Amino acid sequence: MKKIAVLGYGTVGSGVVELMEINAKTIAENAAEPIEVKYILDIRDFSNDKNADKFVKDFAVIENDPEICVVVETIGGTNPAYDFTKRALLSGKNVVTSNKELVATHGAELLSIAREKNLNYLFEASVGGGIPIIRPIAQCLAANKIDEIYGILNGTTNYILTRMIKAGLTFEKALSEAQELGYAERDPSADIEGHDACRKICILASLAFGRHIYPKYIKTEGITKVTLDDVRLAGKAGCVIRLLGRTKLSDDGKVFAYVGPHLVPKDSPIASVEDVFNGIMVHGNMIGNAMFYGPGAGKYPTASAVSADIIDAVKHIRARKYLDWDDAGEEIVADMSGFESKYYVRILGENARSIAAQIFEDIEFIEDDEAVAFITARIMEKDFEEKLDAASQKCNILSHMRVL
Ligand code: HSE
Repeated sequence: MKKIAVLGYGTVGSGVVELMEINAKTIAENAAEPIEVKYILDIRDFSNDKNADKFVKDFAVIENDPEICVVVETIGGTNPAYDFTKRALLSGKNVVTSNKELVATHGAELLSIAREKNLNYLFEASVGGGIPIIRPIAQCLAANKIDEIYGILNGTTNYILTRMIKAGLTFEKALSEAQELGYAERDPSADIEGHDACRKICILASLAFGRHIYPKYIKTEGITKVTLDDVRLAGKAGCVIRLLGRTKLSDDGKVFAYVGPHLVPKDSPIASVEDVFNGIMVHGNMIGNAMFYGPGAGKYPTASAVSADIIDAVKHIRARKYLDWDDAGEEIVADMSGFESKYYVRILGENARSIAAQIFEDIEFIEDDEAVAFITARIMEKDFEEKLDAASQKCNILSHMRVL
């Protein structure tokens, strides 16, 4: 029998406790021994919960209990999760987490403590909810040189965009639906401004390219400026709008990484990823493209990934899994001015069509009675921004986004 402690009894933490009970037999078979949740740490009062006898408020109780071999951190955020994770590792306990913010901002340091202590710090649930993506990149695709990863990494924004496209809802209406369904983060700006997707693409980039890519160096744009006009025009161009996180190796070995809304051609497999689902495309030099698809958020899908990590940690006590990257600074992040893409632009003004054609030269207009919009040829970001600036002297730029 192995004993574990769960930190945080919110959506994910309570899901893990439930799952460990519902699937106890399967988990015991797969871990080769039963696993018991001995403690649940939460500062709130759960005296009426059926697990009331397991609750503690002081992390020291868990830290000082030699019976606890795995600490499951589902608190989210960095405070107090960072302190508790560090203390758990320093006191010789493996840590499993769903906390993408913590992994994205302190992953290199926490992984190095785990390495020194010969422990596991596992975070399958931090990206893609229930979708297996961390292990596939670290293990199943380990014989490939991965050069690009892109995908839909945030369920809330994908739900909002799907409702805007399919039901014609405004952004505000679709957001309140997503909040009612419990998909959005406590603070919805983390979802809609792209920060949640940014943390996830940073984790995937760090894992694929072996050096920590910090969110603070990544250009991040959310979906708050996407309008129903953009949705309609994208449709006329044979595309749907999706919020993508993307990372790519540059020719000089640096790492491009960014988050932003894109026009995605309808024949791309990523375009068919709807609602709260996530889809992640990984390109390796031997496998080509491999896509990972599934529920990207939600209590039980996320608990499924966390609980698999618990089983893995129990099966690998004092036998580290190869899941690691080195620390690095801004010097390894490629300047986006050198990134090439096609762009969608919507503009307003007298002679907008001829001005667009004159400045951007090689473009395709999207035929529409109400708006002037077009798609450029592939162009470097710095050239696109120069042209956009020139166009903005003569017209009103209503929106622009990359085309996948
Ligand atoms: N708010 C996140 C999302 C939860 O919508 O994807 C899962 O990380």
